[in-house]
Amino acid sequence: MLHIFYSRLRMEEKALYKAAAARGTEVDFRDAGDLVWPDDFENVGPGDVALCRCVSQTQNIALTQLLEGRGVRTINPPETMLLCGDKIATAALLDREKIPQPAWRVASSFDAAVKAAESLGYPVVFKPAAGSWGRLLAKVSDREACEAIVEHKQHMGPAHSVFYIQKYVEKGGFDLRAVMIGGRTATLMKRASSHWITNTARGATPEPFPMDAELEALLNRTAKVVGGDFLAIDVFGTPEGWIVNEINGQPEFHGSVAATGVDVGGLMIDYALDSLKSRSPGGGASHV
Ligand SMILES: Nc1ncnc2c1ncn2[C@@H]1O[C@H](COP(=O)(O)OP(=O)(O)O)[C@@H](O)[C@H]1O
Ligand SMILES: [Mg+2]
Repeated sequence: MLHIFYSRLRMEEKALYKAAAARGTEVDFRDAGDLVWPDDFENVGPGDVALCRCVSQTQNIALTQLLEGRGVRTINPPETMLLCGDKIATAALLDREKIPQPAWRVASSFDAAVKAAESLGYPVVFKPAAGSWGRLLAKVSDREACEAIVEHKQHMGPAHSVFYIQKYVEKGGFDLRAVMIGGRTATLMKRASSHWITNTARGATPEPFPMDAELEALLNRTAKVVGGDFLAIDVFGTPEGWIVNEINGQPEFHGSVAATGVDVGGLMIDYALDSLKSRSPGGGASHV
């Protein structure tokens, strides 16, 4: 059976449900906030596929871990969500695989954080290791601002006690966002803004963008690094070529649909149904 669990009915969850209904698929579509494990999950078992679409990263990871314990294939698997939810873990993996990214440092004390920023050279960007929608990003242009940001972060609790710092990239007023399904690019768009933060959640304008061979190769390699089925990759353009800024493991896709007209929800449901078929007895020999 196909399950879709959500915590808020965004455009994305509605599109997924509509696509499943349009294909005549029986789908268990429920608000995870209403459910108790294991009482409300008797209909869940081995061979099932679940799209876990809770807005909260923590809730989604807990749900995928519970479902995997029952033999359910979750999209994405918890390992992918954990990696993508942690910008430090992602940066370490990208380095290991020699995938180009902005220069970065990690530090865990006031002095080390200031030293890290100075060694990168201003401006730098401080980011929470776990964050999205461009929240709590700080572009820091000099030592005094750096000291103030680090001091403030030190009072923000354990989640902010390790500093992830990137070199600020002059990216020409835009970045690219690729939505990847099953390791292939489903949509590519440009997010342009007069603000340095180009999330569509922060008002950037989504536009289509043509694929090129260098970019496609980079996206394919990047998707492999974290595994999983449904990703969004943010890319910056630099004079040296494309570089990867981050990988999202719980992508929203309303901007990508608006920019490209591609039915991402439909593609995702087709992918989930293929995966369901390959898990059922007698289905998809290549996956057995
Ligand atoms: N090092 C950087 N240089 C330039 N712009 C950046 C940098 N880091 C982030 N940004 C801008 O901020 C946006 C959000 O940053 P990102 O790392 O993707 O965090 P989030 O998870 O909040 O989306 C990016 O899409 C980009 O526009
Ligand atoms: Mg981002």
